[in-house]
Amino acid sequence: METLTALPPLQSYGHPLDPGPGELGLLRDSRDAADDFPELRRRFAEDGYLYLPGYLDRGEVLRARASLLDRLAAADVLDPAHPSIEGICRPGAGYVFKPEVTEGNAEVQRLLYSGRLLDFYRQFYGEEVRHYDYTWLRAVGPGKGTNPHCDLPYMGRGTHGHMTCWLPYGDISYELGGLMVLEGSHRRMDLLRNYVFRDVDSFCENRPAEAAEARAGRWSFSGTLSHNPPVLRRKFGGRWLTTEYAAGDFLTFGMFLVHASLDNRTPDRLRLSSDSRYQRASEPVDDRWVGPNPPGHGSAGKRGRVC
Ligand SMILES: [Fe+2]
Repeated sequence: METLTALPPLQSYGHPLDPGPGELGLLRDSRDAADDFPELRRRFAEDGYLYLPGYLDRGEVLRARASLLDRLAAADVLDPAHPSIEGICRPGAGYVFKPEVTEGNAEVQRLLYSGRLLDFYRQFYGEEVRHYDYTWLRAVGPGKGTNPHCDLPYMGRGTHGHMTCWLPYGDISYELGGLMVLEGSHRRMDLLRNYVFRDVDSFCENRPAEAAEARAGRWSFSGTLSHNPPVLRRKFGGRWLTTEYAAGDFLTFGMFLVHASLDNRTPDRLRLSSDSRYQRASEPVDDRWVGPNPPGHGSAGKRGRVC
């Protein structure tokens, strides 16, 4: 259901978002259709995303939060003056990208890759599914969040019909700043065509400087669509859609939907979330993200071509 509730002033990548009801809104809540997969597929086609508050067991999500924070405490990211479960970070923690804290983490692995969530994708696709073995775990301290992008440039070597699951490990207020999506952006191929099919790990072999960068494990382009969410919105039309999240919620979206995050404007709290990916088992997979030790964006994941 569309809701035009007034939202507080919000900021993304250092820019205040345009505050009007035509520019900013709440995510559509699909709890009313949680068991109606034909309807969920219809909404996904229309909106490019599904938001399912409370779909997962809150206790299970909070146990996963505790296990992640214990590992982040061991990695010296947290302020030891507070219990780790509070997620209070050391000053200047910034953007902590630590996928390794999900590896061998039974609570997180069980939550993301078995039970209710995996079954959701099985029913959504109507066939057997597989997931990436790589899990993106983000712990974001006070400051800027993630700038607007689509996911395809990072994972487009297999099917393009896979889906991202964004899952918060704890409650996320507007101040802590969760994910936001750009309404209707998945339908704007006129604006996305020259961006979305580029692969961040491809490089031109016949351009020596570019090839050297790639072999050093760096990207030929960052995959970022914009550094300015309000300007991007004015170009695409539609609204930035977000909400306050609770442990147990998840948001899932396709490869062509533009998304970003609100900034973390708390004085000292980490925002914890993961991105995991699911697809039909029958479709080709991007081999950067599967197997016991996925190459990811490292030098083994680079692909040269003659330009
Ligand atoms: Fe993303």
